[in-house]
Amino acid sequence: GGKGHALRDGNFSFEGPFGTFDQGQLQRGYKVYREVCASCHAMDLMSFRTLAEPGGPFYDAHQASAAENRFVRALAKEVQIADIDTETGEPIMRDGTAADRFPNPYPNATAAAAANGGAAPPDLSVMAKARHGGARYIYSLLTGYLNPPAELQIRPGQYYNAYMAGDLTPFMPEGSHDVPPGGFIAMPNPLMDGQVTYDDGSAETADQYARDVSAFIAWASDPKQVQRKQSGVGTLIFLLLFAGITYMSYRRIWKGVA
Ligand code: HEM
Repeated sequence: GGKGHALRDGNFSFEGPFGTFDQGQLQRGYKVYREVCASCHAMDLMSFRTLAEPGGPFYDAHQASAAENRFVRALAKEVQIADIDTETGEPIMRDGTAADRFPNPYPNATAAAAANGGAAPPDLSVMAKARHGGARYIYSLLTGYLNPPAELQIRPGQYYNAYMAGDLTPFMPEGSHDVPPGGFIAMPNPLMDGQVTYDDGSAETADQYARDVSAFIAWASDPKQVQRKQSGVGTLIFLLLFAGITYMSYRRIWKGVA
């Protein structure tokens, strides 16, 4: 036991040397994060305006700048930010602005752990880099709440997940040959069919939500990845052309020389 399943393939558009993010998918993924994951998971490195930077979910070449992007300003306004009133010095809640970071669902790590049976939900800002398998891992985990074998002794406050790291041998009858793959996780299955409304006609299924939010986290973990790939491809084309020209001039210079 102890070995996880092979990761599920999310058919992600951004994998491979020529891959790019699908902007519609990133927008849906942001919506899933905001409406489902954000109640437990922070994304401390993300600010609203980052969402409007080139390559981001709400980038729009017609907007003056990321900070002025009207979609992002509207999205930020829907989120309440804890702040201090500059006049009275009192703590207040106010509407978010493009410059704000995503707010934390809990005041501190102790409160986060206490609310989740002792396991604090990890920050998702760079989760696609933090776990082997990246977006495929997150997608697999979110769709990995499979039915455990009846003999599995599930610990209180824990859930069986076929992709979570762990070894379930101690939780199966002694000498069992059917130890299931995966491990226990303190996160209940967060996604259900129909939970998030999509306005672009995409399927409103747990599977689609899982795919989309995994793509969003992959983008957030490395917003410059597509730009880097594209300049890599440009460099390769340049080198190929340059090699061709060098070869032709070599032939020309040595033409007729024995
Ligand atoms: C852990 C993603 C929603 C509570 C995790 C992990 C990921 C993740 C990638 C790390 C698993 C690992 O250690 O490898 C998400 C996403 C969500 C979501 C994308 C939205 C679709 C939620 C919600 C809650 C929650 C709504 C609270 C009710 C937790 C907790 C852990 C965790 C407590 C730590 C589990 C442990 O270490 O046993 N989540 N999560 N998550 N999540 Fe979520």
